[in-house]
Amino acid sequence: MSSQTPLHPLEKKALFILLRRKAIDLEELAKESNENIDQLRRVVEWLKAKGYVDVEVKARTVITLGKEGKAIAADGLPEARLARLLSTKGAPLPLAHLNAELKMEPATFNAALGRARQQGWIKVGKEGEALAASPLASPPTQPSEVLLKKLSAGPTDKETLSPEELRIFGDLSKRPDYFTEKDEKAAVVKLLNVPADVSLDTGEEVVLTAALLDRAATGSVRLSKLDVSSSSPILPIGKEHPMATFLRLVRETLLAMGFEEVDGPLVQSSFWTFDALFTPQEHPARDMQDTFYLRDVKSTVGNAPLVNRVKRVHEDGWNLGSKGWRYRWSLSEAERSVLRTHTTAITIRYLAENSREDAKVFSLGKVFRNESANSTHLMEFNQIEGIVVEKDASTRLLMGYLSAFLKGLGFKKVTFQPSFFPYTEPSLEPQVYSEKLGKWLELGGSGVFRPEVTLPAGVKNPVIAWGFGLERLAMLYFDAADMRDFYSNRLSWLREVPQCP
Ligand code: PHE
Repeated sequence: MSSQTPLHPLEKKALFILLRRKAIDLEELAKESNENIDQLRRVVEWLKAKGYVDVEVKARTVITLGKEGKAIAADGLPEARLARLLSTKGAPLPLAHLNAELKMEPATFNAALGRARQQGWIKVGKEGEALAASPLASPPTQPSEVLLKKLSAGPTDKETLSPEELRIFGDLSKRPDYFTEKDEKAAVVKLLNVPADVSLDTGEEVVLTAALLDRAATGSVRLSKLDVSSSSPILPIGKEHPMATFLRLVRETLLAMGFEEVDGPLVQSSFWTFDALFTPQEHPARDMQDTFYLRDVKSTVGNAPLVNRVKRVHEDGWNLGSKGWRYRWSLSEAERSVLRTHTTAITIRYLAENSREDAKVFSLGKVFRNESANSTHLMEFNQIEGIVVEKDASTRLLMGYLSAFLKGLGFKKVTFQPSFFPYTEPSLEPQVYSEKLGKWLELGGSGVFRPEVTLPAGVKNPVIAWGFGLERLAMLYFDAADMRDFYSNRLSWLREVPQCP
């Protein structure tokens, strides 16, 4: 039903509070609205007549501490104080001396003495001429002391006390001046229903609540405008480092494609890094300008038959029908230690040590190259390397796997260009398209391992392999302009780079 008479401003004010509180003591309503309680009583009557609110009168008993009660709440029960004092003295004390310290009314003192004895906290006996009290136990905080403390906070509705508290309250009430009890009537105002078309507009702007939102839809209140375009403060919350996020994504993508992860050491022999990959000992990639050698650490190369096969492959092609590289292969060159320059060192070692006929394996880790760092190069970066060993492994399968992998990382356009590596034939360079830069970006290398690589390692089936640096892909992924940002710990950049671009 719609009401024709507009509401009085005080009615509106009361209704605003009730929309939030639903039910509230008249006294509290007066306090919250900052209005006189008698005036509000009238306002509530008007609202009641309109059927918007109901008033329920509740009778209640309010407990307030008396003068004695307040003192006890602060100092403790007389009998407990007496026993505690005696116990700190630790010796019998003539009664006269005892009360000289406690300074209680004689009647209170006597009652305290009796109760302390009853409780077994003290005993009283003759000590020479005079009566003296001796300590037996020091009483802990008593439940009645706890209750008094609680009641000292202010007038308390008796209904809120627990049965146990009521029992203690009953006992203590026998003592004079501990409490006063007063019966009161409290009016509780309850919101019933205010029709949506009743205007609560006071001409003032109010702060938004859910209840007000409903009313605002009907135009019966006017809400302050929210500026949704104003910028909010940036909260620098903790989050995963973007490179860690990207490496996790790469791992999860390959694991989902059925690959298993293998790992290997950062320091490797030249044998695994180059020789076993049919990379001649004169190859420029082995140059000190490109590779970090460890001066005093020699890597011994085990498995003599394998080493021998690799030596033969380099020198004359062994029995593979290959011509080899036609030079004298040196074991000591192969035993030089390097910081691995590519994860392919892990791959070939895994192949030689496991000789599997079928495998889908990846490795992910740091590699090192002797280059100067700039916005697109680092001398230490992460590489992802994957291989598939199977009877039908082919260039076509390789392109399929790589496309699926890169698409899984969110790179939609993938293509391949011919390339060269000493250990693959054919060799392909995968590229992804950057819409932002409007060009194709080279990622690294891939190909089918040459028989000069797989056969000495004891692998009969063809092996397809790929490897590329991840920081370059991460730059594309996060739209980062400088590769060094991933490692400079520049907080401003780390904060603004999106977690899920
Ligand atoms: N190892 C090559 C590089 O680091 C990449 C590659 C891996 C190429 C596997 C072919 C096969 O650039």
